Amino acid sequence: MAKIFVARSLPGDAIGRLRDAGHTVVVHPGKLPPTREEMLDGVADAEGLLSLLTDRVDGELLDSAPQLRAVANFAVGCDNIDLAAAAERGIPVGVAAHVLTDATADLTMALLLAAARNLPEGERDAREGRWETWEPEGWLGRELRGAKLLIVGRGRIGQAVAARAEPFGMQISFASRGDDLHAALAQADIVSLHCPLNEQTRHLIDASALEAMKPTALLINTTRGGVVDQEALIAALHAGTIGSAALDVTDPEPPPADDPIYDAPHCLIVPHIGSATATTRAAMANCAADNLLAALAGEAMPTPAPPPPSA
Ligand code: DGY
Repeated sequence: MAKIFVARSLPGDAIGRLRDAGHTVVVHPGKLPPTREEMLDGVADAEGLLSLLTDRVDGELLDSAPQLRAVANFAVGCDNIDLAAAAERGIPVGVAAHVLTDATADLTMALLLAAARNLPEGERDAREGRWETWEPEGWLGRELRGAKLLIVGRGRIGQAVAARAEPFGMQISFASRGDDLHAALAQADIVSLHCPLNEQTRHLIDASALEAMKPTALLINTTRGGVVDQEALIAALHAGTIGSAALDVTDPEPPPADDPIYDAPHCLIVPHIGSATATTRAAMANCAADNLLAALAGEAMPTPAPPPPSA
């Protein structure tokens, strides 16, 4: 039976399932991710690794784990893992696919509605004494019926967002690889990002993409902070190049307390909670456990990571 290193305590019964299968499971204690040293130490004699999006799994780490036979990420994204390095060493990588689609699409709609109707500002004003009367011209938001929503990425989460936005009467379009992104951005009232972070999508939304958008546009990011050039976004919000942003993800994550993102106007920020429902997080843990159990038994992972870019 194998030793499995789990990089954080997880909800649900996934760790129990790994133990019930006879494996020795070592769980990194505490709320914060393991340090690099703790990671290297944790995997040194491990055959399985259950990593989180906060853990860098690269060639150096894989080389320090000579017995490693499987990596399962507790996330659908896998930009924290060097997939090519894992493939070169014959180590299968799994992701928590499928199970977080609804939760992430729900959060996207929550951000869309909150930003479109100025909820953070309204809440602050109500609590801080600025709600003096019912104001005909106060806290005016954006009507959703007829608004043009551009979804960047045609994957499961993007489609689930489209299904939720459609009953609001929004006009939905998609942009994916090969499309003229800037032309699509120019038409959109709301842009929601749902592409994975990889070499092609890093800083996809850069200064020129922001320049192409409407000055009233709302940009929503629930994928990875690195898809947006955050410095360019901060500048665009200050300059009024776009109207507002709603971010579940930032670059870096979390931003340090003095990061200028916190001073950018009309910018709603939440702490990477797209998949944060008890049901979804337990399902993600089970998905990671399924991938490890299969790979350690010499079987194919049920939800493998996509192949590395060069494969
Ligand atoms: C993922 O799974 O990639 C999300 O960002 C966290 O749930």
